[in-house]
Amino acid sequence: MIKKNLTINGVARMVVAPPDAMLANVIREQLGLTGTKIGCGQAQCGACNVILNNKLIKSCITKMSRVPNESTVITVEGVGNPDNLHPLQLAWAVHGGAQCGFCTPGFIVSSKALLDSNANPTREDVREWFQKNKNACRCTGYKQLVDAVMDAAKVLRGEMKADELFFKIPVDGEIWGGNMPRPTAIAKVTGTLDYGADLGAKMPAGTLQLALVQAEVSHANIKGIDTSEAEKMPGVEKIVTCKDIKGKNRITGLITFPTNKGDGWDRPILCDEKVFQYGDAIAIVCADTIENAKAAAAKVKVDMEVLPAYMGAPAAMADDAMEIHPGTPNVYFTQNIKKGADTKPIFDSAAVVVEDDFFVGRQPHMPIEPDVGLAYMDDGKLIIQSKSIALNLHRMMIAPGLGIELDDLVMIQNPTGGTFGYKFSPTMEALVGAACMATGKPVYLCYDYHQQQTYTGKRSPFHVHMRLAADKDGKLLGMETDFNVDHGPYSEFGDLLTTRGFQFMGAGYDIKNIRGIGRTVCTNHSWGSAFRAYGSPQSFYPTEVLMDRIAAKLGMDPLELRYKNVYRDGSTTPTGQTPEVLSLPEILETLRPKYKAAMDKAKANSTATVKRGVGVSVGIYGCGLDGPDTSGAKIELNPDNSVTVYNTWEDHGQGADIGTLTTAHKALRPLGLSPDQIHLNLNDTSLAPDSGPSGGSRQQVVTGRAIKATAEIMIEARKKADGTFMTYDEMKEAGKPLAYEGKWSAPATLLDENSQGSPFSVYMYGVFMAEVAVDTTTGVTTVEKISQVADIGKVCNMLCTDGQIYGGMAQGIGLALTEDFEDIKKHSTLVGAGFPYCKQIPDDMEIIYVQTPRPEGPFGAAGVGELPLTSPHAAIMNAMTNACGVCVTKLPALPEKVLAALKG
Ligand code: FES
Ligand code: FES
Repeated sequence: MIKKNLTINGVARMVVAPPDAMLANVIREQLGLTGTKIGCGQAQCGACNVILNNKLIKSCITKMSRVPNESTVITVEGVGNPDNLHPLQLAWAVHGGAQCGFCTPGFIVSSKALLDSNANPTREDVREWFQKNKNACRCTGYKQLVDAVMDAAKVLRGEMKADELFFKIPVDGEIWGGNMPRPTAIAKVTGTLDYGADLGAKMPAGTLQLALVQAEVSHANIKGIDTSEAEKMPGVEKIVTCKDIKGKNRITGLITFPTNKGDGWDRPILCDEKVFQYGDAIAIVCADTIENAKAAAAKVKVDMEVLPAYMGAPAAMADDAMEIHPGTPNVYFTQNIKKGADTKPIFDSAAVVVEDDFFVGRQPHMPIEPDVGLAYMDDGKLIIQSKSIALNLHRMMIAPGLGIELDDLVMIQNPTGGTFGYKFSPTMEALVGAACMATGKPVYLCYDYHQQQTYTGKRSPFHVHMRLAADKDGKLLGMETDFNVDHGPYSEFGDLLTTRGFQFMGAGYDIKNIRGIGRTVCTNHSWGSAFRAYGSPQSFYPTEVLMDRIAAKLGMDPLELRYKNVYRDGSTTPTGQTPEVLSLPEILETLRPKYKAAMDKAKANSTATVKRGVGVSVGIYGCGLDGPDTSGAKIELNPDNSVTVYNTWEDHGQGADIGTLTTAHKALRPLGLSPDQIHLNLNDTSLAPDSGPSGGSRQQVVTGRAIKATAEIMIEARKKADGTFMTYDEMKEAGKPLAYEGKWSAPATLLDENSQGSPFSVYMYGVFMAEVAVDTTTGVTTVEKISQVADIGKVCNMLCTDGQIYGGMAQGIGLALTEDFEDIKKHSTLVGAGFPYCKQIPDDMEIIYVQTPRPEGPFGAAGVGELPLTSPHAAIMNAMTNACGVCVTKLPALPEKVLAALKG
């Protein structure tokens, strides 16, 4: 142990810690300053930034032995607090800089260090600083963060008053469509919001720390598990194996289609007979400290017979491949699409036919907060708190496996540092549940970043062969598709994902005749989970690249080809649905002058070695779960006549709080409540009605309608004859209920056997435009500007939707150019997996809204989250082709692939 006298945030503190303890852990666990976060733990994200002796450092890799005695340390708590915000914190809140907010304290500390050394930075200086210091944000696309620093710097220089930054409620009281910061913003910018690891650090003494014993091979039979030596290790309370699980020891994948050849019971909570993928959990060590738990985990011996690993769909589909789940074929779900006439004669006689093979791969989600959860018993019920964005769905998926009645399982979402969809699947929920049930004690589990990368789901790669036929004027005549979905070893939602291919291949265009087949394939790579825009980036990529090829063949402009073919009166979607609004022509008309100017600019600025180009793509996504998706909400009247809204609108970081508040405020307008009279109690299944999962951009629409319906019921109940409304006291006096619940179901249908139907009542529509520069000597592609004209209906909160679109487009740049999880070893860190830092994302991003009211959306709104990641990668690739004539059909387009294509 060593003793240090430190001045932390201006206060002298004496600290005694092991010399090799990291400063981040000492700050968080010993000093209780949990505003400093630990993300990657590998000096790659900056979540742990503090200022040590006037220098910005990463406290996750700074050993206490390297912290000089008498040092000064500034953490986010020392920058400002909720009662006394630093201009950076204020600017961060009002610019929407904190989405999930997990990176925020690290960015604010970093920005303070910058402004301490340079009071008047340019935007480029700020971006250089974030790049140099590896400040990583997965949510925002960085633009709003730079905006915040620039405004904070102005305030600090006295050129702007802090007051000018504060959000003010408009005089008419209307916040819908405005820029009100989210309710959690202040807690996020000051580091006072407790995320899972912060809650874990504050759990009572006696909470058991969990470490996993995990597979280091991708496919094996388990012949024996020996825990005898591990059990004797210091501090071990129990080692939980499959024998300790009381239920079926399986997580059910909730098969959607009866034609699925699997039964959904294929994912073990703890492996018993087989290992199906790298990282599969085999045992859980429960111990007094995490160090003791990890030391004991290393002593568990697993006897395995290693089997051939099928790391992609072609390998798993080979004739000699064994069944990964014995009894279920590796191709376990097949579906066809049949719309209009037989396509063969159409293709045989069409003026133009284009076709190719495409691959959009295993994009990793890369939240800055690694997966984390805890469990405890309360009054006979098992309480699981995690990052789940599908609380009630996860209860159903894990309860039978754990052997617990559904009513005895409560799930709560912790404040969450980003998921982007991976938490649509349960990850550690059943593990902490099993450990808590086996020990009867509270338990806590936090993944390190290697575990986050290797043992959570990833985007499922699609191998697609697509053909498009058009007449000599460019009018589309038909589409043929044949695709395989590599869904990893676990079936959950794999059938549903495959049908996304039919919903979004060719979407946006009036294609009368379609034939196609899609298959879901079991492999031994990482399990397929939801990822923002689920299934659509894989579907739009072939469509949008081939659209450009038709244009090239006919000598037409790519934007005009799209304009000719997009949905108009009489058009139907690939699944035969009539679009609920027809905004694509207007969207393209809005983009056209900007597109022409961008084309001219690209031509003028190309050089002999750096070629510039412009590409466009259409992107569409549905808002909902397929079919009659339902949500519930509850509103309760409080004694001070304020109300509390309850729902399970889970928050990835997208803004469930501001979405709920703004929608409730609008719906409750007749009562004249101000926003601070509307309290939120979200994401506790013991308190709130089931609002379904936060996936498929459904919450603003489906839960938004449920909130509206509930508000209408309450307003009606409180109405008095004179047109005023009963107070709390009057309601009590009259013996009327104080809480009201409402529901809403989408008027939509599941797809039939020909993949025809109307699966969503509301869609989002958009067109992307990318402007890129390709260095033909290195193959490096730079996105210099990216824009989207978006129709997401009437916008609920502009700050929030801007942030969603910037952040989604940034993830699209990563998908196009760098991000991958094919190589388990190389891609298991942020840097290794191609995480986009600030300089990879252009500062020049533009959003133009076309706000067509949606008949079924609450107050005309659609969703937003998925739209910006539907097809930006296709616009980027089309821009690359426009720049230098090559196209990479297997993403990501790494420089070596671009160079190879250029040489080819
Ligand atoms: S850099 Fe320290 S947690 Fe990522
Ligand atoms: S707000 Fe930056 S990672 Fe979520």
